[in-house]
Amino acid sequence: MTAIEPEHPVAVVGAGTMGQGIAQVALVAGHPVRLYDALPGRAEEAARAVAGRLDRLVAKGRMPAEARDAAVARLRPVAELAGLADSALVVEAVVELLDVKQRLFRELEEVVADDCLLATNTSSLPVTAVAGPLRRPGRLVGLHFFNPAPLLPLVEVVRGHATDEAAADRAYATAAAWGKTPVRCADTPGFIVNRLARPFYAEAFRLLEERAADPATLDAVLRESGGFAMGPFELTDLIGQDVNEAVTRSVYEAFFHHPKFTPSLAQRRLVEAGLLGRKSGRGWYDHAEGAARPEPDTAAPEKAPGALVLHGVLPPAAAVLPELIEAAGIAVTRGEAGGADGGYFALPGGARLALTDGRSATGDAGEPAVRFDLALDYRSCARVALAASPGTSPADLRATVGLFQALGKKVSVVADAPGLIVARTVALLVDLAEDAAGRGVAGPEDIDTAMRLGVNYPRGPLEWGRELGAAWVRRFLANMESEYPGGRYAPSQPLRRRAAVKENLLPS
Ligand SMILES: NC(=O)c1ccc[n+]([C@@H]2O[C@H](COP(=O)([O-])OP(=O)(O)OC[C@H]3O[C@@H](n4cnc5c(N)ncnc54)[C@H](O)[C@@H]3O)[C@@H](O)[C@H]2O)c1
Repeated sequence: MTAIEPEHPVAVVGAGTMGQGIAQVALVAGHPVRLYDALPGRAEEAARAVAGRLDRLVAKGRMPAEARDAAVARLRPVAELAGLADSALVVEAVVELLDVKQRLFRELEEVVADDCLLATNTSSLPVTAVAGPLRRPGRLVGLHFFNPAPLLPLVEVVRGHATDEAAADRAYATAAAWGKTPVRCADTPGFIVNRLARPFYAEAFRLLEERAADPATLDAVLRESGGFAMGPFELTDLIGQDVNEAVTRSVYEAFFHHPKFTPSLAQRRLVEAGLLGRKSGRGWYDHAEGAARPEPDTAAPEKAPGALVLHGVLPPAAAVLPELIEAAGIAVTRGEAGGADGGYFALPGGARLALTDGRSATGDAGEPAVRFDLALDYRSCARVALAASPGTSPADLRATVGLFQALGKKVSVVADAPGLIVARTVALLVDLAEDAAGRGVAGPEDIDTAMRLGVNYPRGPLEWGRELGAAWVRRFLANMESEYPGGRYAPSQPLRRRAAVKENLLPS
């Protein structure tokens, strides 16, 4: 299916944040663009704002002045919907209210030609419902851009139940022709990104509620160990707590209060108090002029042990550690014990040092144990989080801190939270992604692309799951579920199936 040719006009209805961005994208792609807004004067104002943004691109040398002049000449604010009659595509970006969108598309149907493609930029309403009252619902598709639309490449192309395949294909091809990276997804709550990203925020908020660590430490661990560009606290302060919570709540409602999507009480309190983040001057952090940013908890320098004994086989995620430890001049000898429960290092005082497996370090037996967190890559990460059981000697805890410091890492010693920080976040991201893939929400490649481009994750969740091993993720989550019964951490059926297939070495 071919894209809509650039000579055909594109209309954008709703000239707010998203409408302006989408209009700019279509304009730069060469289309004549009509801009309409229900608020009198808003479309003209928006057209001036778009022209101003193009001016800045020219000033930065990213756009020739002639191209800007031609683009501005192609942009036309219109005062009536009737002015959109010759459009080949209408993209709607009005308020997020179902009845407003439905009414608008009904009116548009009376104005545009029968072959005009209709698109909604809704982030949370079902595309199927938006198209419900239309005479010809087959031509309505979801085109979910991300903010700021001119900069972010991802576009989710959502096919509602009534959407014609040809309409979805044409929307996909058009987004690609506009220089975007489109992904196809089914009409399910939150589409890909807003559905799969929920645990990134929720796990950190839960860890705060459980007093595992403070926001600065949790942010630092997810950034410097997990490889995420921003931590959940600083990111939601940027997005706005109200905006982020509204997405969480809408996905939670849409999934009939499924425990995997439970919103956070701590975030609710912020929203209720009007502590919305940067825009209100305070959220998780104080953003007042001159306010000091809290530092993450970082352990003071300690001495590394001279040698360690490795028992059993470390899980794939931690398999590189013996090599790194030896490269740091610490001898690693092989011990006899270990096996079923995964490998561990014996610390000089007798405590077992192991990658978290979803249980707390204390476990059921309360034996001396130190658990370290998952890292995106132990070779390059700047920080590692760890926790010790109460039975661990201070000397063994200090030796572990010294060990990771000898590998060049900062160390955050946190409270003994099951599954620590990065591991439990990533395990849930993997689980939700496997579940979405299993349910046909989107293809595996599109899921990983969406999470890398839509929310800037360092690795697609399915790829991450493959690196960790489905069996490891399944066991990790089963352990988490026994720590916190209630279904939030229960491994999804597609993840369990993948783990079983892999363990039995059947082709997947
Ligand atoms: N802001 C984001 O980060 C973001 C990201 C992706 C998708 N979205 C979705 O995009 C849509 C618009 O969001 P926004 O942030 O740009 O909102 P906004 O409030 O900035 O703009 C909405 C505009 O629509 C106009 N409008 C309202 N009702 C109208 C009608 N019946 N006809 C014509 N114009 C009308 C308003 O006057 C306003 O100018 C929503 O569906 C939202 O869920 C937003």
